[in-house]
Amino acid sequence: MSHLRAVPSAPTPPSRSGSATSVRVEAPGKVNLFLSCGARGADGYHPLTTVFQAVRLIETVTARRQAVGARGRVTLTIEGGPPGLPVDERNLAVRAALLLARTTGVREGVDLLLRKRVPVAGGMAGGSADAAAALVACNQLWGTGLNPAELTGLAARLGADVPFPLLGATAVGHGRGDDLSPLMTRGTYQWVFALAHEGLSTPVVFARFDELAAAAGRAPVTREVPGALTAALRTGDPGALAPALHNDLQAAAVDLRPAIAEVIALAERAGALRAIVSGSGPTVAALVPEAATAMRVCRALTASGLVSGTVRADAPVAGAREVG
Ligand code: C5P
Repeated sequence: MSHLRAVPSAPTPPSRSGSATSVRVEAPGKVNLFLSCGARGADGYHPLTTVFQAVRLIETVTARRQAVGARGRVTLTIEGGPPGLPVDERNLAVRAALLLARTTGVREGVDLLLRKRVPVAGGMAGGSADAAAALVACNQLWGTGLNPAELTGLAARLGADVPFPLLGATAVGHGRGDDLSPLMTRGTYQWVFALAHEGLSTPVVFARFDELAAAAGRAPVTREVPGALTAALRTGDPGALAPALHNDLQAAAVDLRPAIAEVIALAERAGALRAIVSGSGPTVAALVPEAATAMRVCRALTASGLVSGTVRADAPVAGAREVG
């Protein structure tokens, strides 16, 4: 597929592990500025054309070296987020560390500490950001030395949305959404995210997309990124970007969760330039012109009782990187 997806073919165990005792990495959540979805393929995935923008909702993974006696296991502790998130192999951050260890022949374990800020099951790829951050942190801690293209290859094996938080900023995604090309943009965009009381499952939203297409008697096809969108991103003008925002999965998310339509209408009445479903939802992303409007939109949404909360973030921001 992409030039970014090379995977190391004949891994050689690293001669020595890295020297740090702990490595901290931040990775961003995302919003889809544009998402066009085709018909499900034989592999169960839908071909996409999408534009990701990395937002300042940041997941932090700290990878700590284990005491000698404890070697070989990957443990995970989570701070923030709802209670009951899995800390075993069902968690993408754990899977990321295990995949890196397996691919590179590392036999050392790691203790991962994850601080969550991206809404869970919200269509903002928080779990994918965790996996991206874990890959970068463990690669550094273990001294495995995979280059960005090799890490991207592993990321794509973990999930379609995992390569993007490695790259960050703004990028076009093709294929499953994991074949990325960076997009030139200017300026900063202000977002208000309306959080739902309950998450939506990505496969369930894609399945409803299929059902709606079948009921309408049409075979969905992917469109290319409209010129109006890329032109708007080059101007840095949120007023120009707003009319170009689009998400083919929105109708499916609204069909599953009709209150989403009310949230979108309310945000726009309160002054958002445009509000759309983020990814597979149910989070609604409202693009606002400035801070005063952001506060008005947050207040209106909170007062409605339709949302579990609101969070503000600017974008775009950088991809996964070591901090501290
Ligand atoms: O790749 P990931 O595990 O994140 O995808 C979760 C599910 O979302 C897939 O099993 C598939 O049902 C759906 N999906 C899809 N088309 C895509 C991406 C995801 O149908 N391009």
